[in-house]
Amino acid sequence: MKNTFGNNLSFTIFGESHGSQIGIVLDGLKSGIKIDEEFIDHQLSLRRPYGKLSTARVESDPFEIVSGAFNGYTTGSPLTIVIPNENTRSSDYSETRFLARPSHADYTAYVKYKGYEDYRGGGHFSGRITAALVAGAAIVIPALKEEGILIGTHIKKLSGISDRDFNDYRSDIEYLNNEQFAVLDKDAGSAMIKAIEDAAADGDSIGGHLESVILGLRAGLGEPFFDSLESLYSHGLFSIPAIKGVEFGNAFEDCELKGSEFNDPFSVRDGRIVTDTNHNSGINGGISNGMPIIIRCAVKPTPSIYKEQKTVDFNKNEDSKLTLKGRHDPAIIHRARVVADSMLALITYDVIS
Ligand SMILES: Cc1cc2nc3c(=O)[nH]c(=O)nc-3n(C[C@H](O)[C@H](O)[C@H](O)COP(=O)(O)O)c2cc1C
Repeated sequence: MKNTFGNNLSFTIFGESHGSQIGIVLDGLKSGIKIDEEFIDHQLSLRRPYGKLSTARVESDPFEIVSGAFNGYTTGSPLTIVIPNENTRSSDYSETRFLARPSHADYTAYVKYKGYEDYRGGGHFSGRITAALVAGAAIVIPALKEEGILIGTHIKKLSGISDRDFNDYRSDIEYLNNEQFAVLDKDAGSAMIKAIEDAAADGDSIGGHLESVILGLRAGLGEPFFDSLESLYSHGLFSIPAIKGVEFGNAFEDCELKGSEFNDPFSVRDGRIVTDTNHNSGINGGISNGMPIIIRCAVKPTPSIYKEQKTVDFNKNEDSKLTLKGRHDPAIIHRARVVADSMLALITYDVIS
C-alpha cells in the first residue's frame, strides 16, 4: 500500500475510519508559512456532514499539529496533523463483514490485503480519510493566495439540475469558499438539496459533477509528459474515493469541434499574453499557459444504500443479499467539493515549489 503523492511537496495520508486517528504528513513545505488554525477549522467544517444531506456520523475534527510548526509558522520540517476519530460505531460492520457492498472496496480490499484489512467503516478506503487532506491543504491555501492563486469548486450538475456557469471567477470562488453547499445559483441549489433529501428518504443515493477552477497560475509550470499538469491534477483527483471521471474544461464535447473552432487564439491584453477562448483549459503541452484551469469531475452515487442489494459472501464464496446498517451519506458530492479543492491546492503548491 502506498500513500504518498507529490514531488517538491509530498503528502502522505494515514489512518482508518474507525482507528484512533487519521492524519497527514506534508514534507517539502517552505518555512515561514503562517498557520491559520481558524482557517483549518473552516475548511474542515465544509467537509463535515450536516442535516439530512449527510451521514449521521458527525465528527468535530479537533485536529492537532504535532510537528513542523513553531510559534505559529511552518518550520520547513515535515508538518504532521492528526485528527482523532471519535464518533465510530464499529458493531454496524461486524455482521456484514464478508458481504461485499456493491461499488465499495470491501471485496477488492479483502483480495489484496488477504483479510488483514481493517474493514470497519470502510477502513482506509473511507471518505473519512479525506479530512486529513482538507486539513493539510489548509496549510498551503493561504500561501497560494499570497502568490495570487485561488481555487474554487461548485456542484455543476446533480440529478439533471445544473448550476450556472462561472461568471466572474474571482468573486465566484470567494463566494463558494464560504458556502456549505457550493452552488452559484440558489434556486438550483435548493432543487439539488431536495433531490438529495428525496434519495435519502428512499434509502438510495445520488452522484453528480463538480467543476473546479484554478485561477492565477502563471504560465510555464508543468512538464511535457508524465508530470503534465493534466496528469498530476487528474492523478490526484482520481485518488479521492468516489471520483470516477475527470475532464479538463468541456473536453469530451469540445473535442468534436473543428480545429478552427477549438483552437484558442492568442492575444496581448494589457501587456499580457492571453487566449481569447479557453478550450485547452489553461494547459498546452502539459504546461500552464496562464489562463484559468478548469477541471470537472464525476462523483458517483454513494455505494452504501439502504435498499436490499444482490451481492456475494466472499468468505463462503456464495451468492447473498445485503441490507445495510451503518451511517452513510445519501450523496458524497457536496462534501467532496472541498476535498477536490484541497487536492488541487496541494498539487498546485507542489508545482509552484
Ligand atoms: C467525503 C466522502 C464521503 C464518503 N462517504 C461515504 C459513505 O458514507 N458511504 C459509502 O459507502 N461511501 C462513501 N464514500 C465513498 C467511498 O469511500 C468510495 O466509494 C469507496 O472507497 C470505493 O472507492 P471508489 O468509489 O473510488 O471505487 C465517501 C467518499 C468521500 C470522498
